[in-house]
Amino acid sequence: MLRLEGIRAGYGQATVLRGVSLVVPDGAVVALLGPNGAGKTTLLRVASGLLHPTAGRILLDGEDVASAPPQQRRRRGLCHVPERGGVFADLTVAENLRLFARPGGEEEAIDRAVAAFPALGQRLQQAAGTLSGGEQQMVALSRVHGEESRVVLLDEVSMGLAPKLVDTIFAFLEDLARTGVSLLVVEQYVAKALGIADYVCLLDRGRTAFVGEPAELDSAGLAARYLAG
Ligand SMILES: Nc1ncnc2c1ncn2[C@@H]1O[C@H](COP(=O)(O)OP(=O)(O)O)[C@@H](O)[C@H]1O
Ligand SMILES: [Mg+2]
Repeated sequence: MLRLEGIRAGYGQATVLRGVSLVVPDGAVVALLGPNGAGKTTLLRVASGLLHPTAGRILLDGEDVASAPPQQRRRRGLCHVPERGGVFADLTVAENLRLFARPGGEEEAIDRAVAAFPALGQRLQQAAGTLSGGEQQMVALSRVHGEESRVVLLDEVSMGLAPKLVDTIFAFLEDLARTGVSLLVVEQYVAKALGIADYVCLLDRGRTAFVGEPAELDSAGLAARYLAG
């Protein structure tokens, strides 16, 4: 569904990604793990078109999208939930949900968000910035339903949330995966991410340190080396 090949990218003179390749198969959940600063967020930004790579290929459902702007990738089913969600704080929850919806699908997007996260039902007319961190993440995750998403990039969506909310969010991701949507999940809750992942990719200082199934990661002793704690 998504294929990144030999990606090099960075900021100004600083090269962050030094030739990273990654495949998210159709319907699969891939956990993208690695230490802080490894380049996980940068790789998601390259995939969704927010950052241009200096080398490499980006294929979305077999089509080269390297020169396609983010909105075109979105229309082809790629959805990026960035770090800290990126909701519009001054807009109401309903306005946020309408913004992420395809034209004509605004009310349906609100209905689907409330069905997935009933807590949002009471909050629709409230400014999103006044919600709790967990509720803001619910709004951010609801953008997945706005247009038919086929591959979703999730950047630490459970960061800083209470354990019960983390469970709610992972349950949402599991449900999403069951509908056949492909997921690329960057997470600090490593065990949780490995629990829903079909494959895991370990990034270290801008290079791929490991690609395989979660069980292989353990047996290679890599989990302890890279992901302690
Ligand atoms: N906007 C930016 N400008 C300059 N350097 C950045 C920027 N964003 C990230 N970096 C640097 O790129 C490297 C990788 O960052 P990032 O992709 O955020 O890593 P991760 O998400 O794995 O923690 C880090 O060294 C970070 O300091
Ligand atoms: Mg990051």
